[in-house]
Amino acid sequence: MKRNTKILVVLLIVFVLIQFFRPEKINYGKPAQDLSNVPEEVNAIIRNSCFDCHSSEARLNWYDNITPANFFVTSHIKDGRKALDFSKWNTWPKAQQNSTLFFALNKVLSGEMPLPNYAAVHSSTKLNDKQVDILKNYALSLTSRKVTDTAQVNKVEKQYNAWINEGRKNTTVKPSPNGLQYIPDYRDWKAISTTDRFDNGSIRIIFGNEIAVKAIQEHHTNPWPDGTVFAKTAWKQEVHADGSISTGEFIQVEFMVKDSKKYTKTKGWGWGRWKGNDLKPYGDRPDFDKECVECHQPMKSRDYVFTSPLYLISQLKKVE
Ligand code: HEC
Ligand code: HEC
Repeated sequence: MKRNTKILVVLLIVFVLIQFFRPEKINYGKPAQDLSNVPEEVNAIIRNSCFDCHSSEARLNWYDNITPANFFVTSHIKDGRKALDFSKWNTWPKAQQNSTLFFALNKVLSGEMPLPNYAAVHSSTKLNDKQVDILKNYALSLTSRKVTDTAQVNKVEKQYNAWINEGRKNTTVKPSPNGLQYIPDYRDWKAISTTDRFDNGSIRIIFGNEIAVKAIQEHHTNPWPDGTVFAKTAWKQEVHADGSISTGEFIQVEFMVKDSKKYTKTKGWGWGRWKGNDLKPYGDRPDFDKECVECHQPMKSRDYVFTSPLYLISQLKKVE
């Protein structure tokens, strides 16, 4: 045999042999229900482009069953389902459906989803511009952005100054019904993330205390160390005549305080929310925080925290 033919034969034998190595079996084919509460075309796009990895139903091609491709596909599906499972959509409250859709749209706009290396091979899952517009327009339709009048802008200006200056002297704020104390110092912390939620017309800033910021720098964020505190503030959006957006009325501040021993009942975090300019504690029972834990449950594998630091440079290196 010629040398090249020999190499080919060896490769072929190796290829046949590796077919005996298969990834662990997962259930690929449990039919997933349509997404309720959204237009049919939105459902169709998500079914087509996202369900393979984010629902109980994965449509595989013949080549997905070949080793080694099957290892990649199985791990995408496992990780994808863990991160977000659209099969559970119909059990979520409308607010959670809207925020998930918004989160999903962001991942599409940033080019992260559908996973580019998967979409390259499964080209039917790639979204075209028209499909992206359909998702965008639907997300926009969930909120109305009306221009704010001058009187309201002035009122809000005053309120914002009060938030910056006076609120910090406010020592009369009552604790949360579960005992968590209000923490006025959060305004001196570093902002670690912002979200502009066009689905419900709010602007949010997430602050982290020193321990949180240090943990981010040292990549110790799963689990977050005891002593970590996050403060998430939310304002209504003011829309100006030129379409620009600024913070409007102060809606609330929420805290998550990490103490894995003290807060074992609530997943290692103390939860509290104070509403409005007068910082009224939210909740009428000590276990009101069940509601917080439930909605943060999808982030279980990331210590119940949505905000994950974007280590952009190391991510880019991985892609290279
Ligand atoms: C080939 C499999 C695959 C496809 C197809 C796919 N995803 Fe993903 N997706 C993943 C994986 C794997 C993760 C987890 C990535 C991680 O944790 O870094 C993920 C994470 C996400 C997350 C973040 C969830 C979280 O909690 O961090 C969102 C949102 C998301 N995908 C939306 C979508 C949308 C929308 C589509 C369709 C347009 C889509 N994905 C298609 C595999 C996929
Ligand atoms: C409807 C779902 C939902 C509920 C209920 C909820 N959260 Fe969150 N929370 C989120 C989402 C989504 C984020 C990510 C940031 C964003 O989108 O604004 C978040 C982020 C946070 C953050 C910033 C840290 C992080 O995880 O990113 C804090 C602090 C927080 N929530 C506290 C609370 C508290 C306290 C309660 C209960 C009083 C609560 N949350 C209830 C969905 C929810």
